[in-house]
Amino acid sequence: MNEVSRRLKGNHALLMVICCVVPMALLAAVLLFNIPLGTVGFFAIMLACPLMHIFMMRGMGHGDQRAGSNSGVQGNAVGNAEAAAEPVATGRRSRLPSQTALTKSRYDRQARTYDRRMALMERLGFRRLRYKLWSLVSGRDILEVGIGTGSNMPFHPQGVHIIGIDLSDRMLAQARIRARRDAVPVQLLAMDAQNLSFPPATYDSVVSTCVFCSVPDPVQGLREVRRVLKPGGKLVMLEHVRGPGLLGPIFDLLNPVVVLLSGANVNRRTVANVEMAGFEIESVESHFFDVLKLIVARKRY
Ligand SMILES: C[S@@+](CC[C@H](N)C(=O)[O-])C[C@H]1O[C@@H](n2cnc3c(N)ncnc32)[C@H](O)[C@@H]1O
Repeated sequence: MNEVSRRLKGNHALLMVICCVVPMALLAAVLLFNIPLGTVGFFAIMLACPLMHIFMMRGMGHGDQRAGSNSGVQGNAVGNAEAAAEPVATGRRSRLPSQTALTKSRYDRQARTYDRRMALMERLGFRRLRYKLWSLVSGRDILEVGIGTGSNMPFHPQGVHIIGIDLSDRMLAQARIRARRDAVPVQLLAMDAQNLSFPPATYDSVVSTCVFCSVPDPVQGLREVRRVLKPGGKLVMLEHVRGPGLLGPIFDLLNPVVVLLSGANVNRRTVANVEMAGFEIESVESHFFDVLKLIVARKRY
């Protein structure tokens, strides 16, 4: 059996498992633990997005395309990714370059369909939260980490200097198209959040939206963010996190599949990670059944 058919067969087996196990697990959760249907609907959408992505890529004939080029990415080594793996726990440095390469390849792969897949979530409330997040940003020098395809660009404040970085060249290519089309004055650079190439104390504010779910070593990335913030600088984040209560173990169960399909972890403890990186938390606002957090944190000194 050649490599391509082996991969397709593997994907089909995985999809069949997901299609059988996940609806049954969701139904059991609703019946046994009285979980509101809205919560289940939200996670069904989250799971449906990566699945739709697979079908769309197949339809477009992209197959299991992987990013081969490292060009332009500064920081940790980024190259071809071989196998799916779990996120790196802080301290297990040896696996970090391959985890980072894998994350890059996953976002490169979905760059062209990302906006279409996110459209429903944007309408369901993301857009409103992005607007709120940017109203909390202060100062003149702003860094947007993991800018992706530039979904935040419509909310960028005027008269400030914004640099957007991302690991994925192809997500950045989409962001460049958007910036040109909408005449957004943003500087875009390929860079790894875990190894920023800016001098210390450069930025007044750093922004991230749905990024630290994907950064392989989130605490290392947040330490880098803290390093490049000026003393008194602000970190403003909109990040989805591990669900509360009984949702937590369900997210843990689903996490490997979601990571494999989308690159994002659904069970990150991002508020704790922000504190672990040395920030002082100023406020945490919960949305979408406590799963989405609008976090404001400060570098005190
Ligand atoms: C789910 S997308 C979010 C994109 C955008 N912030 C948004 O709100 O639509 C996650 C983004 O984080 C980027 N990313 C993941 N790990 C990264 C890292 N270590 N350094 C920089 N960007 C990273 C991915 O390439 C991807 O563009």
